[in-house]
Amino acid sequence: VDDGRAAAIAAMDWATLQQSVAGCVACKLCDTRKNTVFGVGPAAPQADAPPRVDWLIVGEAPGEQEDLRGEPFVGQAGKLLDNMLRAVGVSRHGEVQGAQAAFIVNVLKCRPPGNRNPALDEVAQCEPFLKRQIALLQPKIILAVGRFAVQSLLAGSVPDVQTQPLGRLRGKVYRYEGVPVVVSYHPAYLLRSLPEKAKAWADLCLAMETIKSL
Ligand code: URA
Repeated sequence: VDDGRAAAIAAMDWATLQQSVAGCVACKLCDTRKNTVFGVGPAAPQADAPPRVDWLIVGEAPGEQEDLRGEPFVGQAGKLLDNMLRAVGVSRHGEVQGAQAAFIVNVLKCRPPGNRNPALDEVAQCEPFLKRQIALLQPKIILAVGRFAVQSLLAGSVPDVQTQPLGRLRGKVYRYEGVPVVVSYHPAYLLRSLPEKAKAWADLCLAMETIKSL
């Protein structure tokens, strides 16, 4: 990755970062995407300032629906994610009275064709955007769902994160640039694997307890 590009992204305000993602041509996913997917959350107080949120949810990459709508987690997996979050009092648009607000993003801002796994170079090119989103949002907690989010956020601090199964990584609180990180299963996986839902529930409770203890 070009250091100059990463440094430029690291200095962007919220509005500039959004424009930069919308116009990004750093990898070949720009040829096949219909829309970039920056992320979604409550309305920002001003255009150049990020919204105020307690939670940041980090997923993998846009799928078909997300690519069409330009919004993360709007398909089946997204409905499950929203329901799980709502059950612990967290909402994506701040639409629920008294709920904690969440911002929802993916590691990749563009859809890989046919929903294939993100490639290493695509993750590397896109990571500066996620890093800047986190620096500007300053969430109280990050919930990393699925192995691509977990690997991207913890590669610098957890030496064997690339080889450990997710089931072995979950249940602990990690840190990314000082922000607590809780690891959980990807909701698309939970849709196929009912027994893991109880564990995902425990992960949400761990995240909630971590926020309360701050
Ligand atoms: N899966 C993801 O990881 N992100 C989305 O936005 C949708 C499905």
